[in-house]
Amino acid sequence: MKTGKIIIAIDGFSSTGKSTIAKQLAKELNYIYVDTGAMYRAVTLYAMKNNYVSANHLDSEQLIDNLNNIKLSFLFNAELGFAEMFLNDTNVEREIRTIEVSKLVSKVSAISEVRKKLVQEQQNMGKDKGIVMDGRDIGTVVFPNAELKLFMTASADKRATRRYKELLDRGDKVNYEEVLFNVQERDRIDSTRKDSPLTKADDAIEFDNSDMGLNEQFERIMSLVNDRKQ
Ligand code: DC
Repeated sequence: MKTGKIIIAIDGFSSTGKSTIAKQLAKELNYIYVDTGAMYRAVTLYAMKNNYVSANHLDSEQLIDNLNNIKLSFLFNAELGFAEMFLNDTNVEREIRTIEVSKLVSKVSAISEVRKKLVQEQQNMGKDKGIVMDGRDIGTVVFPNAELKLFMTASADKRATRRYKELLDRGDKVNYEEVLFNVQERDRIDSTRKDSPLTKADDAIEFDNSDMGLNEQFERIMSLVNDRKQ
């Protein structure tokens, strides 16, 4: 059996179930899992708290000047089975998933200096391989040489329904139309921004999981992983 560690890059539209499959793969393979969306969300939360961003303004200069004051870290929570996001040593895992952060994160993620800082940190985390990373630019920018690249898609309605249920389960007050609009709007901004837009890498394998169950996805992907292990 081949045991060499590889890099698994998972990109795709918002709420396509990237993190669910990534967490499951990391657990099975005993790899590190990195949710890069959480990092962009944490920077957005920092910008919100400091009034650098809101619905109708973005002070990118102030945010760029303060990038060195943003310390991001992941700490594994054994009970949950995955690493939680910490911003300047405070656990922000819950706060970064609110609809308020979702509404502003695409604006902040379009700033090149923010991307540069986070891409560097992400590349550093993957230097020893044995990593599953999900996001928007992992197979195109962060790890263009990743051994396995996946690109996840699903219909906007399916994705908004999943996200809506997740938010309701957490006890957040949201309406479906608001969630659908946010999912579509983020896709639009993420795919059209100048720096590292969301696109499928030429060598990525596309997965439309609108009607595919988690088990089927997992098995198909595991067989791709086993083909690529070195
Ligand atoms: O994966 P997510 O939906 O939690 O990501 C939140 C936002 O962060 C997404 O709308 C765009 C941005 N993002 C990005 O620009 N690049 C990444 N690698 C990951 C996320």
